[in-house]
Amino acid sequence: MLDNPTQIRATSNLSITYDQISQFVDEFYKSVRTDPQLGPIFEQVIDGNWEPHLEKMKAFWRSVLLKTGEYKGQPVPKHNQIEGLHTEDFMQWLELFSETANQLFDKTTASHVKTTAMRIASSLWLARNKDPFQSPPEWTPLKGTRK
Ligand code: HEM
Repeated sequence: MLDNPTQIRATSNLSITYDQISQFVDEFYKSVRTDPQLGPIFEQVIDGNWEPHLEKMKAFWRSVLLKTGEYKGQPVPKHNQIEGLHTEDFMQWLELFSETANQLFDKTTASHVKTTAMRIASSLWLARNKDPFQSPPEWTPLKGTRK
């Protein structure tokens, strides 16, 4: 049991807190909801019931960034079920994600979080794309942040 979960160190040179992740998720999905391209795609599934989705996404990002192991979902089938999801939507998702990360995190943390999102976006994109010879696109907002 950790004495102070808000001060878990995710890696030797990355420090990120529970509160920062919560704030990040809240801010990111605020911009997603009002985005003319992504808002309607989310709304067709979320149907106004955002709170459980936000809680799930906070647990997801804590699991990914802080290795808490809380998230037990299956993102691939969930995203494969979403109708009308195109490469440009992944681009826009990453664009908004990148904007929020740049606003809320220091440069090193933002870069780590964005690179992680890009990797997951690539696997979700590949899982939707049935052609095994296709590669995921170069995600524009994250160019230059790959390690
Ligand atoms: C075009 C981009 C994306 C769109 C439109 C999108 C949309 C959605 C929607 C509508 C849901 C709710 C699904 C449901 O409850 O049935 C969802 C769930 C989720 N999304 Fe995305 N998503 C996108 C990209 C991503 C990316 C890049 C990540 C990770 C970096 C991600 C992580 C998740 C996770 C973890 C869930 C929860 C799945 C579960 O229920 O266990 N999404 N997404």
